[in-house]
Amino acid sequence: MDIVSRLARTSEESGLLGRALYRSILIACVALALVSCQDRSQEAEGRRRDVLVAASPTGIAAGMDLYMENGCGVCHGRDGSGKGPLAHTIEPPPRDYRDPSAYKQGTSVAEIADTIASGIGGASSKMPQYLHLSEEERTLIAQYIVSLQRQ
Ligand code: HEC
Repeated sequence: MDIVSRLARTSEESGLLGRALYRSILIACVALALVSCQDRSQEAEGRRRDVLVAASPTGIAAGMDLYMENGCGVCHGRDGSGKGPLAHTIEPPPRDYRDPSAYKQGTSVAEIADTIASGIGGASSKMPQYLHLSEEERTLIAQYIVSLQRQ
């Protein structure tokens, strides 16, 4: 084998090696990202459960304060009746959330906390996203809303 073809072969092999190395690093990164992502969602789930376990009249009162401070009552009314001062200007209107059949995205604390984070999708909906609220704050507000639901 002459020197030129030997060089060509070496660079081809190192190219292959490089690609294999690159591929395994990529796979390791994706795996790492997935694991840390799962860790974080488990952590969030754990925090949510902690707040739920701590549900108490004081927690519900704190949820009501957050609900009013963040302007939910302007549309929904303090009592969740859907008759806040702005309600008559909104279409579709905030419905009566004391009625469990009125919800589109679920009536549980976890589902309502998710609705507060994501709002209601769709161009016609006026339910905003509240991404700046923490998981704990959204859970407390959701507990207040659930406490208003008729059983
Ligand atoms: C600008 C008015 C407005 C504000 C402010 C507002 N909402 Fe809404 N919300 C709506 C409207 C309108 C709907 C019904 C939307 C629809 O049916 O598409 C709704 C729907 C909901 C629902 C029902 C979701 C479902 O599954 O159907 C919940 C729960 C809710 N809002 C909670 C909140 C909370 C908590 C806040 C404050 C952090 C808040 N909203 C602030 C207008 C508002």
